This record gives sequence, C-alpha cells and structure tokens, in this order.
Amino acid sequence: MIKIQSVSKIYPNGVRALDAVSLSISDGEFVSIIGKSGSGKSTLMNIIGCLDKPTNGDYEIDGVHVQELNVSGRAKLRNRMIGFIFQGFNLSAKMTAYENVELPLVFRGIPAAQRRERVYSALERVGLAARAQHLPGQLSGGQQQRVAIARAIAARPPIILADEPTGSLDKASGNACIELLHALNNEGHTLILITHDFDYTYGAHRVFRLDDGHLEEISRLPIRQSG
Ligand SMILES: Nc1ncnc2c1ncn2[C@@H]1O[C@H](COP(=O)(O)OP(=O)(O)OP(=O)(O)O)[C@@H](O)[C@H]1O
Ligand SMILES: [Mg+2]
Repeated sequence: MIKIQSVSKIYPNGVRALDAVSLSISDGEFVSIIGKSGSGKSTLMNIIGCLDKPTNGDYEIDGVHVQELNVSGRAKLRNRMIGFIFQGFNLSAKMTAYENVELPLVFRGIPAAQRRERVYSALERVGLAARAQHLPGQLSGGQQQRVAIARAIAARPPIILADEPTGSLDKASGNACIELLHALNNEGHTLILITHDFDYTYGAHRVFRLDDGHLEEISRLPIRQSG
C-alpha cells in the first residue's frame, strides 16, 4: 500500500533531513518508527502523509506516485487515505469535540445526516460520545487526544499516522492512547506510530530507527494471519 524508495528530503536551508530512505508497508500492518529529536521523524511523517514532497526518490501510495501530484491532488489523496494524530492534538479550541471530528467529513463533502452518524460512531469508538458538546479546554489531555483519534478515524481512512501521540500525555493516558491505536490496527487500519519512547513500540510488527535521516529496521515480528 505504501512504497517509499530512496527518498531524500533536503530543506531549502541545506539540511538533509532524510537520506535515501526506503520502506514498504502492507495493508493492516503496524509499523513503529523511533528516533532521537531531529532525526527526521516528522519529516518522514509529512512525506508519508502527503503534506510534503520528497526532494529525491519515489513515494507511491495506493498505486499513486505522490510526487507527480499537485497540492490539491495530494490533499485529496491524503483525505481519502490517511488519518493524522499529532503530539499537540491540533484540535480547534473554539470548536466542540463534535465539530472537530466533523470537520474532515465536511472537507470530504459528506452530507450532514451521514456526518452526524459518523461523528457519533467515531466518538463512541473512543468512549467520548457523552462529551460531544465539550470544547477542548473542557477536556483532559487524554480525552483531547481521544477526540483527535476520533477525528482521524471518522472518515474511515485505511491508514492511521501518529506522530508522537503520547508526547503530551502522562503515562496512564499515553498507555490508553496506544491501546486504542492497537485496537484500531486489530480492526484493520494500517498503523504507523512515530515515537521516541521505545516502550510504545510494543506490539509493532516491525520497528525502525531513524538516525540522522537514515532508516534502519531493528526488529521484525510475524504479521498476524487474517481469516
Ligand atoms: N521546515 C524545515 N526547514 C529546515 N529544516 C528543517 C525543517 N523541518 C525540519 N528541519 C530540520 O530537519 C531535521 C529533522 O527534523 P524533524 O522535525 O523531522 O525531526 P524529528 O525527528 O521529528 O524531531 P523531534 O523528535 O524533535 O520532533 C532537523 O535537523 C530539523 O532542524
Ligand atoms: Mg517531530
């Protein structure tokens, strides 16, 4: 589903954030990427998530070569394929939990009645249907991250891309967040989890380390057989 071949990213200031990175990820896989601060994790996430383009190399997702698309083509592909979860939650402070989860569905042009059904089903999935009308400021950090997870899955994208989702959470909320991501992977979502905490790579089918823009596989577990 995801095929990254010899991808490099050189920022305009000359920083080589990724150096000839290759990585293929199959449907339903759980891949974890660890690395120190500045190793290129977010740069790789932005490329996988079609938010940015590689300087060199080929990135193919669902059979589409991303570097051949313009900005709006990348946005469409992103909306269809990927749900994002960020360290800082990235919720809109002035919008309720409901409205935050609904926003990507509005962008996708989904009719109002269907949006309502999907928003509630996503909020129920993360155990927060009762908090639908709360603003982010009226929720705990762990609850805000669960709203962000609901937003990521509301449009039912095949891939969940999480960049340090536990970075702003205490250990208990962090563990709950990771367990929820594991459950979503078990339900069929491909999961890419970026973290600097090796503990959170537990359960991943494959673990990679990024070091100064170089990607190296450090462990591999058998992929669950389906059926
Ligand atoms: N927009 C940018 N312009 C120039 N250089 C950048 C840009 N974004 C990142 N970099 C540089 O690229 C390198 C990789 O940054 P990146 O944000 O991918 O690291 P990271 O692994 O996500 O770090 P952290 O764990 O701190 O989030 C760093 O040296 C950083 O300074
Ligand atoms: Mg980062």
